Amino acid sequence: MSRNAEPLAALFAAARAAQMNAYAPYSRFKVGAAVRTPGGAVFSGGNVENAAYPEGVCAETSAISAMALAGERRIVEICVVGDGDALCTPCGGCRQRIREFADARTTIHVAGPDGVRKTFTLADLLPESFGPGHLPA
Ligand code: THU
Repeated sequence: MSRNAEPLAALFAAARAAQMNAYAPYSRFKVGAAVRTPGGAVFSGGNVENAAYPEGVCAETSAISAMALAGERRIVEICVVGDGDALCTPCGGCRQRIREFADARTTIHVAGPDGVRKTFTLADLLPESFGPGHLPA
């Protein structure tokens, strides 16, 4: 967890640092992610693969788990960083995991090694989504 006066730069730096520690011996595609909460706290994670391939987890999932286990329940913005030319956009499952803690203003920054390349809203990436509000109280 960390706090910084330059939120997006700090978020990218946290995601990039997590990417360095990702465990991706099978795909060799390391991904980092960092989420920022309303209070300014930042939680990061990386993908952690497994010899039983389906048991691997994405970077976004790692970061969201760290956030939730610290007692935080809201994501203001998330930054995801991967290498290569293609935008490293969150997979479908991670879009839904972000949705759980997101609101209409939550932004998703997709970055490469040099910084943020494109910013989306959750609605861009997961339109007409199902969320906690769809369940009976
Ligand atoms: N991956 C992530 O961690 N996040 C993404 O947004 C896209 C994909 C991981 C999953 C797997 O470990 C590797 O990248 C290749 O798909």
